[in-house]
Amino acid sequence: MNKAKSFFIKSFGCQMNVYDSNKMKDIFVSHGMQSTNYYQDADYIVLNTCHIREKATEKTYSDLGRVHKKGKNDHKIIVAGCVAQAEGELIQQRAPYVDLVLGPQSLQLLDTYLSDKNSNLKTMTEFDAIDKFDTLKRFKSHTDSKSSFVTIQEGCDKFCTFCVVPYTRGSEYSRSIPDIIEEVKKLSELGVIEVTLLGQNVNAYHGPDVSGKERGLSYLINKISELDKIKRITYSTSHPNNMTDDLIELHGTNSKLMSCLHLPVQSGSNKILKLMNRKHTREFYFEVIDKLRKHKSNIALSSDFIVGFPEEDDKDFQDTMDLIHHVGFMNSYSFKYSPRPGTPAADREQIPLKIQDDRLKIMQTTLDQQQIDFNKKFLSKRLDVLISSSGKFKGQVKGKSEFNQSVAIPGNPNIIGDIVPVQITDISVHSLIGKAEV
Ligand code: 5AD
Ligand code: SF4
Repeated sequence: MNKAKSFFIKSFGCQMNVYDSNKMKDIFVSHGMQSTNYYQDADYIVLNTCHIREKATEKTYSDLGRVHKKGKNDHKIIVAGCVAQAEGELIQQRAPYVDLVLGPQSLQLLDTYLSDKNSNLKTMTEFDAIDKFDTLKRFKSHTDSKSSFVTIQEGCDKFCTFCVVPYTRGSEYSRSIPDIIEEVKKLSELGVIEVTLLGQNVNAYHGPDVSGKERGLSYLINKISELDKIKRITYSTSHPNNMTDDLIELHGTNSKLMSCLHLPVQSGSNKILKLMNRKHTREFYFEVIDKLRKHKSNIALSSDFIVGFPEEDDKDFQDTMDLIHHVGFMNSYSFKYSPRPGTPAADREQIPLKIQDDRLKIMQTTLDQQQIDFNKKFLSKRLDVLISSSGKFKGQVKGKSEFNQSVAIPGNPNIIGDIVPVQITDISVHSLIGKAEV
């Protein structure tokens, strides 16, 4: 009997790429192939790439060179994701050995490619979200995880001046509610009890319900909560301008909604927010946070920040630091501004790297301290933890609290999938240690 062919997928960047990688996995499995963790053994190597910052993009090319050289004979290389979308032609020039280039909304064509040995597919970068989701739902999902991502919305119409997403993922598209419910139901039958609803602008979600009536994110979340097997729901990434009152109120009324929210503000300076085309002020962001805390006083907030955006001076940076102190975050991501070709801010005069580095260091020290302070509050306290996998060390399992903190405890893998009451005994910046309460 012939040995089954194998595939290796490496996912870069955001959670939406992780979702897409899982879907590509389902397609490979439907062709009788097996997953391998080693690209050296793989017949098909997929790099699912990220274009958000220059560093991420360059990583694609260095990885491509390596897998091409060290992969086994006759392997096929597929570049998927946002670099594929943005640089399709360039990839073929810089890495002519690449067999297939698939943009994020063309990844369903992987099935066509695998079905037809003589396929002449080469560079597929159409924007067709409808076809993508319609095709993908034909493939059986495979997961042994208790927690799953579900993309409900794709693309962005906001055009922040630093961001490539509107160009790589296209304009906003919301999947229909019946489609999403069907996918979540199938996942719950496979054992999934926690879902993270994904979209580049997830809270701008506006999909049709069974009768074709357009509904927002809060309606969808309530519908998903009606599924008994689903115990926890969260969503990412949101824009402050789409935090509608009904969604804010839901944080106080829907007990399945996790007590955390990722709400990127990028900058605390009104001048920079304007130059970024964020279309809101710092005062508006504070108002949203105040309203959220009125409905859910202990909600854990996280954000993304960009330092060194063109024209950011010391006062602007101080405004951002002031916003960070004012709000208090549990966990945040901060980046140096990276000019992206084709975006409006890329042509502006850039801030010297040394200034960017210094500002980033100051910001990250403060954000880490805030995370430690947040975690410290839970020392000796009880947290319900959804145990999702084995831990880093033998005899350990780990999972997430309702505040999205990573928690590790001594325990047997047979409790994976349970929500376990845990007493917190130790903390670090990025995780908590505890023991199961008996
Ligand atoms: N430079 C630096 N950071 C960026 N991000 C998006 N585009 C850029 C860029 N050009 C950051 C934003 C966004 C996160 C996903 O990546 O903070 O929220
Ligand atoms: Fe990019 Fe988010 Fe702005 Fe859309 S809202 S352009 S995805 S940063």
